[in-house]
Amino acid sequence: MPNAAPIPLVFETGKRGRATVYFGDGHALDEFLPKSALRESLPLPENSELDVVRHFTRLAQRTFSIDTGFYPLGSCTMKYNPRINEAMAAQPGFRDLHPFAPTDLAQGAIATMYELERALSAVFGMAQFSLNPAAGAHGELAALLIAKAYFRKKGEGAQRSTVIVPDTAHGTNPASAAMVGYKVVSLKSDARGRVDVAELKTALGSDTAVCMMTNPNTLGLFEDHILEITEAVHAAGGLMYYDGANANALMGNSRPGDMGFDLMHLNLHKTFSIPHGGGGAGAGPIGVAERFVDFLPTPVAVRDRDGKFSLDFERPESIGPMRSFWSNFAHVVRALTYIYANGGEGLTKISQLAVLNANYIRVAVKEFLETPYDEPCRHEFVASAQALKRETGVRALDIAKALLDRGYHAPTIYFPLVVPECIMIEPTETESKETLDGFINALREIMATAKSDPQKIKDAPVNTVVGRIDETRAARQPDLRWQPSL
Ligand SMILES: Cc1ncc(COP(=O)(O)O)c(C=O)c1O
Repeated sequence: MPNAAPIPLVFETGKRGRATVYFGDGHALDEFLPKSALRESLPLPENSELDVVRHFTRLAQRTFSIDTGFYPLGSCTMKYNPRINEAMAAQPGFRDLHPFAPTDLAQGAIATMYELERALSAVFGMAQFSLNPAAGAHGELAALLIAKAYFRKKGEGAQRSTVIVPDTAHGTNPASAAMVGYKVVSLKSDARGRVDVAELKTALGSDTAVCMMTNPNTLGLFEDHILEITEAVHAAGGLMYYDGANANALMGNSRPGDMGFDLMHLNLHKTFSIPHGGGGAGAGPIGVAERFVDFLPTPVAVRDRDGKFSLDFERPESIGPMRSFWSNFAHVVRALTYIYANGGEGLTKISQLAVLNANYIRVAVKEFLETPYDEPCRHEFVASAQALKRETGVRALDIAKALLDRGYHAPTIYFPLVVPECIMIEPTETESKETLDGFINALREIMATAKSDPQKIKDAPVNTVVGRIDETRAARQPDLRWQPSL
């Protein structure tokens, strides 16, 4: 069991005059900064460098991460982040480049953006990408703004008012549509966990602007009627949007562009091995078919005939920048490094192994846990604790907590909403057979304990620094501020 003693805050350990100061004797800051930038009173803690290093190292040791254990968080693609990515992003030529650096001095960095843009367009079958949006949801928003601009230009701005979203979609899909001012129409899945094509056709009309789809969907199932779907949406004058959060399932196998999608986003931080989680910096490039290229957010990295790179801001039809400067540029370097390190064949293999690993767990797990869609999955699958709950009172939440006790990060639970007591598992390609077997055995043992001694599982976790918390209150009323005691 980890040391559960509370770690004092740096505010509590600080002592006046103890801060490590690199500006001479600590009273000469105004030699480096104008007086107007200095504050008279700022209640910052003063700790020695060593105390600060120890403080944050201790905190990090209490945090679960992909570097410390298996992280099968469905739809989040928590794969290993190769250290070569970090080494490349930390190259001084990239790391120290000023965002206002003139184009002539930033040729390598802009070339990196250009090459990533070209690579993504090739892998996903789109005409062009913009690397500007900073997360998946941000990409959704950008793409829907493009859809809006496109229909406005066509004179259909007022008429095209609805966005169709399947009920398995991530919550950000309807949220993004609503933010752009669209009315959201939810589409019920069929018994096979796919879009019900007949129902879709009924929902389509002259008001349809966009149909947003994730393929494979969040049940880990490939939408096998996708060509019929894209054809029907296009015939109604609507656009197809591809939520690329699950792109780890299909690289080198199928391309959204070939399926008929007009607009898409990627979560670079998932598929292309970039550390994420906890709301950290992300990258959500959007790709578009040829007729939407002029609407892409600025800037777009371009190369002229002489091979010179520049950032194109002069795009009159652009929806404008979604993010300041070059967005999260270090992620561009990490993603391109990952692509170069693996190559086209490597990316194909990555997706194949991600699918293989998910199916390996699925087949083992179905011996002791319900799997509502009993067919080969893609990179993730869903199980359900509904029968277990009926029999023992043990819920998906309890299983997730019991996994923490056994050294595993919890899978995604209660999403997608269409599966009661849902447990969504995505192992990714980076895990060994031994790790997958260890996880399967842990789940099997939890299920056996749930039946013989359900209270034991309901009391989990007992081996973690923090036990059960009021999750609703923690999410709705987070109070993370330190305040001086008055
Ligand atoms: C299917 C799906 N779509 C969209 C998103 C949103 O991506 P982001 O968290 O980068 O905003 C997620 C995130 O988990 C997702 O799983």
